[in-house]
Amino acid sequence: MKLDHIDTPAALIDIARMQKNIARMQGRMNALGVAFRPHVKTTKCIDVVRAQIAAGARGITVSTLKEAEAFFAAGVDDILYAVSIVPAKLPRALALRRQGCDLKLVVDNPTAAAAVAAFGDQHGETFEVWIEVDTDGHRSGITPEQDTLLEVGRILHDNGVTVGGVMTHAGSSYELHTPQALAALAEQERAGCVRAAQRLRDAGIPCPAVSVGSTPTALAVGQLEGVTEVRAGVYVFFDLVMHNVGVCALEDIALSVLATVIGHQADKGWAILDAGWMAMSRDRGTSRQSHDFGYGQPCLLNGTPLAGYVVSGANQEHGILSLTWATGDEGGHADDIAQRFPIGMKLRILPNHACATGAQFPEYHAVSPEGNSVEWRRFQGW
Ligand SMILES: Cc1ncc(COP(=O)(O)O)c(C=O)c1O
Repeated sequence: MKLDHIDTPAALIDIARMQKNIARMQGRMNALGVAFRPHVKTTKCIDVVRAQIAAGARGITVSTLKEAEAFFAAGVDDILYAVSIVPAKLPRALALRRQGCDLKLVVDNPTAAAAVAAFGDQHGETFEVWIEVDTDGHRSGITPEQDTLLEVGRILHDNGVTVGGVMTHAGSSYELHTPQALAALAEQERAGCVRAAQRLRDAGIPCPAVSVGSTPTALAVGQLEGVTEVRAGVYVFFDLVMHNVGVCALEDIALSVLATVIGHQADKGWAILDAGWMAMSRDRGTSRQSHDFGYGQPCLLNGTPLAGYVVSGANQEHGILSLTWATGDEGGHADDIAQRFPIGMKLRILPNHACATGAQFPEYHAVSPEGNSVEWRRFQGW
């Protein structure tokens, strides 16, 4: 289908950009000598993940058991569920393992570790668990020097659970924007995770996998000694937040929302779009960064960014396109906006946060360089 025939709003994937992003990350990981395990929560789309695996990815990372179930059903069997497991979810994890899925669970506390051990014992299942390490204080995990690390390791190891490794995610990288700061955090992430693995091994607890990663640190890291694999998710599409972090150009962003101009408020210098926050998501991640992109960066249908314009406001199904706040007097351009953006004109809007925007849609329209599109399904729910 041609872009002109797609109902709006719609989520578009620029296949050429996506393939370039996949090749860039996989090429880096190959050069650094580590395995790459993409986080599929960004896309929740088997077509995208097939392209990542074809490029060399080994296994996937998921953020929900629904993703694990859906990707296992689609033929992927090496899966890291990278959110600390709660006991109520163990029956679903067990069902996956019984079907042959090499599902690895994550814990970061003694209670969860004991629950996995008890449940495994009760059901005669040897679960594999990775211990989450906190290397930057931004979210969950056990810091490398905490006694709890060895306590959790022992609860697992002594009770018949396989300790598969340690994993960390330096998500505070999203708050940085210089190559030096990113490289320093990437090294902190690497060193902290390697140190946690070493402490476990020194205590007699096997720890084969050392897994690190976020898109910014994966692209900034200089060396990965002691690391066995890297995880990254949003790199496959990139977005405006990543652009502000400094790891991609606007021209690398592979996800956009196709929208139609539906009206004007000429005195205010606004064009009204049929893509509001229901399409773009409420994510305003760039509002805390050096360049605030509002609800998104408008582009022409061919992908060329419309410099100086922004989606400055959003209601549920209405977006407001205007000149950027920085340019000042919007009223002076009132005539221009109606002429430049006539009713019926279609635009592509780059998102702040690709994971959040993608989640608004049940499917993507994957667009080839020739401008033809096919539908790629996307999973939803938990
Ligand atoms: C545990 C874990 N690993 C990896 C990632 C991938 O990070 P990014 O999307 O920055 O590549 C995430 C993202 O939230 C995560 O939570």
